Amino acid sequence: MHKTFSEIKTQAVLGLKVLKLVFESSPRWASFYFGTTLISSVVPTFGFYLGKLTIDAILARDINLVLILALIGLGINTLSSAFNNLASYGYNIMKDLLNRYSTEKILVKSAELDLSYFENPKFHDQLEKVQREISYRPQQAMDLVVEGISSVAGAISLSFLLFNLSVWAPFILVALSVPRFVFRLKYAYWTFSITDNRSPFNRKIGQIIYLLTHKDSAAEVKIFNIKKFALGIFNKLNDRFIFENKTLAKKLTIYSSFLDLLGNLSYYGLSLFAAFQTIAGRLTLGDLTMTTGAIRQYQSVLQGIFTYMARFYENNLFLQHYFSFMELKPTIESPASPIKINSEEPLTIEFKNVSFGYEPGKLVLKGINLKISDAKNFALVGENGAGKTTLVKLMLRLYDVTAGEILINDINIRNLDLVALRRLVSGIAQNYMRYEMTVRENIGFGDIDNMSDTKGIKDAAKLAGADEFIEGFKDKYDTMLGKYFEKGEELSGGQWQKIALARAFFSNAPVLIMDEPTASLDPKSEFEVFKNLVTHTKNKSLILISHRFSTVRLADEIIVLHKGEIVEQGTHESLIKQNGRYANLYNLQAKWYK
Ligand SMILES: Nc1ncnc2c1ncn2[C@@H]1O[C@H](COP(=O)(O)OP(=O)(O)OP(=O)(O)O)[C@@H](O)[C@H]1O
Ligand SMILES: [Mg+2]
Repeated sequence: MHKTFSEIKTQAVLGLKVLKLVFESSPRWASFYFGTTLISSVVPTFGFYLGKLTIDAILARDINLVLILALIGLGINTLSSAFNNLASYGYNIMKDLLNRYSTEKILVKSAELDLSYFENPKFHDQLEKVQREISYRPQQAMDLVVEGISSVAGAISLSFLLFNLSVWAPFILVALSVPRFVFRLKYAYWTFSITDNRSPFNRKIGQIIYLLTHKDSAAEVKIFNIKKFALGIFNKLNDRFIFENKTLAKKLTIYSSFLDLLGNLSYYGLSLFAAFQTIAGRLTLGDLTMTTGAIRQYQSVLQGIFTYMARFYENNLFLQHYFSFMELKPTIESPASPIKINSEEPLTIEFKNVSFGYEPGKLVLKGINLKISDAKNFALVGENGAGKTTLVKLMLRLYDVTAGEILINDINIRNLDLVALRRLVSGIAQNYMRYEMTVRENIGFGDIDNMSDTKGIKDAAKLAGADEFIEGFKDKYDTMLGKYFEKGEELSGGQWQKIALARAFFSNAPVLIMDEPTASLDPKSEFEVFKNLVTHTKNKSLILISHRFSTVRLADEIIVLHKGEIVEQGTHESLIKQNGRYANLYNLQAKWYK
């Protein structure tokens, strides 16, 4: 009993949350939709009563009354259909508004969450559920609340007609509907349980669909002949879903047949009772017609109410995922009262005893002490997996350090506004984005508030060596890149990298971090880009991560990372003299050029 009560409470709370969501998305349209639906639900009851009066009037041969009643009937019917139409108009508008609003909330939330969330499969399961259900669950919940309330209003009004037969009649009908209600609740729970566990499999199917339908994988699908393998997984998972659904559908069919029988028995039982009452003269013929009609209608309204309640319950089980998703909080946030950096001062970034692990107990960076200042050029070198990219991510607060601290002009970066911090640093990431958008947008993202600065964008493109091929396009800087949209131009690997470089050049951040910025560039372009980088970053700090020692050697200071620790630091000459790890790596590469 206690369990039932707390379940009802949970459902009520969820119902209120849905209502809040609905009204937040559009108070005006929500009120319109709720109001019109409620009115249209009580109108049919008047119709039944009018029917009774008409039959009684016919039997009394009162032509005037019949005429008047017919006119009123016409009026009520016209009103009823007008409100029905208005209600569905409201519904059509509301569902779009609600869909937009709830989806936008997911997008905002996702964009705010830490990077670490996106590296957690459980998070993706949750996101999958939320994304899959969001297009219709809140809308369905709204629909069910409205339909439920209006059905209850309809049922209450019909009860008055049934009292005419017996005060017990409505209660008997309610009692006889309970088995259906119980079944619908159970069915709702079954549906939820089988689909709720499917997220990892749905995502697997999604991965297969992506693999077989997306440009990025199209070539390899052919080269490695992946089709059959991928379709095998697709079909195996779908077979399982179909089997589960079939089992459930079978249950529904069998139970529904019994429940329909029960419904028919109660209808005929009560109707017979009404017929006997008429024969005994306790009811008029009009009463009989009204009552039998009302019984049917009452049954269908009750069935509706119980079905709505069960579906509402099922819907809420899913919506819980949505609401709990909305409660996720990023751990990396701006402080309540951030400290402002003095933009006049030259910038220093300092790592003090910084250690970091993506997972507990597995440190990727250990005791890093490093000072980046004086608008110098730094190079970060080290073998694959040494921790170079991770170091950069910490600087941008994409992750928070596990131990130690990172200071900018002596202020812990945790005390800075996140947007302000990220404005200080720009550059090119190792796995930079290829935005299938226009050239202007691709480069403009480097300084998003100045995207309309065409000259600045062109200058940046020149520095990156991208202007030449951009000028070759018919639409120049308004050319769509990639083949995903109409009139898009596909670029070569190196050209995409030049666009990403232009994005970095366009930024006016005082620190530029370039993680493998020229990995795809031809030697001539690489030379040009470095020449430009050095002149362009005269007043900036440059942090270059590269495996190309021909460029690394030009840096003012080289930092050698090995297994998460700084093992050497100094100028090219001093490190060569030291004849340690750097000299070893440098000589290894230089050997091929001799
Ligand atoms: N998101 C992540 N979650 C868990 N471990 C990670 C993650 N990203 C990187 N790692 C691990 O951290 C270590 C350092 O990776 P990092 O990307 O910093 O290396 P890197 O020096 O940039 O290497 P490369 O030269 O290949 O770019 C690696 O062992 C890698 O497996
Ligand atoms: Mg890296």
